[in-house]
Amino acid sequence: MANFDLLLLAGDGIGSEIMAQAVKIIDWLNRQGDHTFTLEEDLVGGASYDAHKSPATDAMMAKAMKADAILFGSVGGSKWDNVDYALRPEAGLLRLRKDLELFANLRPALCYPALAVGSSLKTELVEGLDIMIVRELTGGVYFGEPKEITGRGNEKRAVDTQVYTTSEIDRIARIAFDLARKRGNKVHSVEKNNVMATGVLWKEVVGQIHKEDFSDVELHHMLADNCSMQLVRQPKQFDVIVTDNLFGDMLSDTAAMLTGSLGMLPSASLGAEDEGGKRRAMYEPVHGSAPDIAGQGKANPLAMIGSLTMAMRYSFDMGKEADLVDDAIAAVLAQNLRTADIMMDGMEMVSTDGMGDAVISEIEKAAG
Ligand code: IPM
Ligand code: MG
Repeated sequence: MANFDLLLLAGDGIGSEIMAQAVKIIDWLNRQGDHTFTLEEDLVGGASYDAHKSPATDAMMAKAMKADAILFGSVGGSKWDNVDYALRPEAGLLRLRKDLELFANLRPALCYPALAVGSSLKTELVEGLDIMIVRELTGGVYFGEPKEITGRGNEKRAVDTQVYTTSEIDRIARIAFDLARKRGNKVHSVEKNNVMATGVLWKEVVGQIHKEDFSDVELHHMLADNCSMQLVRQPKQFDVIVTDNLFGDMLSDTAAMLTGSLGMLPSASLGAEDEGGKRRAMYEPVHGSAPDIAGQGKANPLAMIGSLTMAMRYSFDMGKEADLVDDAIAAVLAQNLRTADIMMDGMEMVSTDGMGDAVISEIEKAAG
């Protein structure tokens, strides 16, 4: 029997509503007693700014460093539009990623059979879709220096810096190749080497690692603009996509929508393995804080619950239990229960809470 420390950072907007549904599942797991979780909570993002004038306090960061994993809801909202750039809610999320060195962001885009008809693409294009986007998360234009606005008056100058080193590309490429071996054995490495120096280095390093250590994996180099087009033209050509921080941000939103709703996509952000084989890890839905529907019970909790099952797989070696929960999600969708974002004619609309309860009752049924 193992016990794990889980830090819950619900954040802003719909964060606390969807987190509450994941907690129902954690409570259920705790009642089974095989693997148990000790939960801690803290504020992040705008909620933390309101309480402490900081989107990520040192005290919260210390808890995050100690936890076996973090479950993260969402941050941001127009309420904080006028907050200083360095203190905006998103800066809290970026600090967590950077300080915990969570360089590998895994964003699976899986199309549940029951949702294929809900995609904006033709059903046959997305049915059975199973893509894994591996996004570099601690480098690139998100963190490169200088990053500033200079000048005064009518003619200012803004700079963001895209920077990548060999070792940053090396480690994310290895994650992608390793994952591909456990899936469809195919990697698309995505950059813009036709315009960007970082793209030239990216392609070179990925090609080199492939030649040396992963030549059994099928590798394609693809320009990012072409990739965005191919994702909506023929998404099933992809297995694993590995790309930089900014392209990964954009392409994963596109991939998410192929599956029917942004509300369906979980993610894992992982650090390097330590000597004991453990990785720092944070799990979060790909969607944002959706302040327009916050507090109304309309949010879809399935990406949050899916993020918990990713934690069970990648941090806690609970593949069997994760399968149970993921199967429950599929079953609930097959029963035609839908939150507002995935609602269709003839389906039954449920609230955030209702969706969480439906997943729990499926889990209980399956567990017997
Ligand atoms: C994401 C989000 C974040 C990002 C925002 C909230 C800072 O869009 O996780 O994809 O740009 O990385
Ligand atoms: Mg994004």
